[in-house]
Amino acid sequence: MNVHQPNDLSAFWMPFTANRQFKSAPRMFVSAEGMHYRTQDGREVLDGTAGLWCCNAGHKRPKIVEAVQSQVAELDYAPAFQMGHPKAFELANRLIQMAPEHMGHVFYTNSGSESVETALKIALAYHRARGEGQRTRLIGRERGYHGVNFGGISVGGIVNNRRTFGTLPGVDHLPHTHLKENGFSRGQPEHGAHLADELERICALHGPETIAAVIVEPMAGSTGVLLPPKGYLERLREITSKHGILLIFDEVITGFGRLGASFAAEYFGVKPDLMVTAKGLTNGVIPMGAVFTTPEIHDAFMHGPEHLIELFHGYTYSGNPIAAAAGLATLETYREEGLFERAAELAPYWEDMLHGLRDLPHVIDIRNMGLIGAIELEPIEGAPTQRAFQAFLRAFDEGLLIRTTGDIIAMSPPLIIEKSHIDRIGEVLRGVLRDLD
Ligand SMILES: Cc1ncc(COP(=O)(O)O)c(C=O)c1O
Repeated sequence: MNVHQPNDLSAFWMPFTANRQFKSAPRMFVSAEGMHYRTQDGREVLDGTAGLWCCNAGHKRPKIVEAVQSQVAELDYAPAFQMGHPKAFELANRLIQMAPEHMGHVFYTNSGSESVETALKIALAYHRARGEGQRTRLIGRERGYHGVNFGGISVGGIVNNRRTFGTLPGVDHLPHTHLKENGFSRGQPEHGAHLADELERICALHGPETIAAVIVEPMAGSTGVLLPPKGYLERLREITSKHGILLIFDEVITGFGRLGASFAAEYFGVKPDLMVTAKGLTNGVIPMGAVFTTPEIHDAFMHGPEHLIELFHGYTYSGNPIAAAAGLATLETYREEGLFERAAELAPYWEDMLHGLRDLPHVIDIRNMGLIGAIELEPIEGAPTQRAFQAFLRAFDEGLLIRTTGDIIAMSPPLIIEKSHIDRIGEVLRGVLRDLD
């Protein structure tokens, strides 16, 4: 038997991480409060990414901590199938109250990836329930990220996530919306609404009556903050409605205040048929996701004998009591502190800070929306991703957590951020970017 030290780093195979590089120089957080993490060696690090786009109310928020602690002592777990507990229903009602008004129901999952699979399955099952079982095709978009399960990587558009594993058949992709002429956009870019018309081409190719759903992130986060051009989402809605195709918004990042509204659907005034959420639903504290559907979709399943299960889908932890308690306390914190409004108010200040970095070397684009920002760097020739990763490491040394994807720095701070923190982010980035190779 191998005997490992308790602090041996080798047993944990880390996700989306260069394991060998990390383990040769680990970066460890041991506590967090408000806008800051604390490292193992006692340094404070300003959280420029809300963890992984999830801690929208910041860290160690008293209401959420208290809710989780008391829930675990009261009802730790209740079976999710054929049994219920009150908080799962209460949370569902709260979620529907804050969602765009055409939404009526939520289905619980444990992550963004599971929410994506759930939404895709609901879309397929919905058409079948209505006698349109031939609608099996799913349409995603290049550079889209929809988690890591097979449905998600199939509709997703990230080559590294797809090529090793294979993907589901019957999937096609819209082109991405990231156009050079939109460089240095403040908010929604001007050009590119016509890219939604590609959906008409895809419909003409396959036959619209074979297509079940189109899934897009209203604003693509993980591939480097790709903003929807003005009129683009509206056009997607028009075309999908015209052909009876469901429109799914993956709001795993944009949900829960990130753009200064509850959801991107509300921010853009576009009504999807399904919304996929996770992350900010529980402030990242306990894993939980939720898929929102319209009453029309839900009700299509509610026929047939009442003793029969309507949808053969669900997870052991769907609506888990501790997650539900965390969710309720999180929504309460957002509401009490007016955090979504706060995000909207601070967005112009955030935007000015970001675009103030335009003069720095290697910066080839800056874009922003709500409390999201991206700085794109010219890649080092022959060594893509290295320049941004160098920025990540240096920022970390300077006490700032950022995230990089390719050669793009992406930021999404907690919505409790103060102007002084925004100034600090600007200061650190200026120092870091000035000295990059
Ligand atoms: C748009 C989107 N969908 C899905 C996911 C997957 O979420 P999870 O990592 O919780 O499975 C993410 C994660 O970043 C995401 O950004």
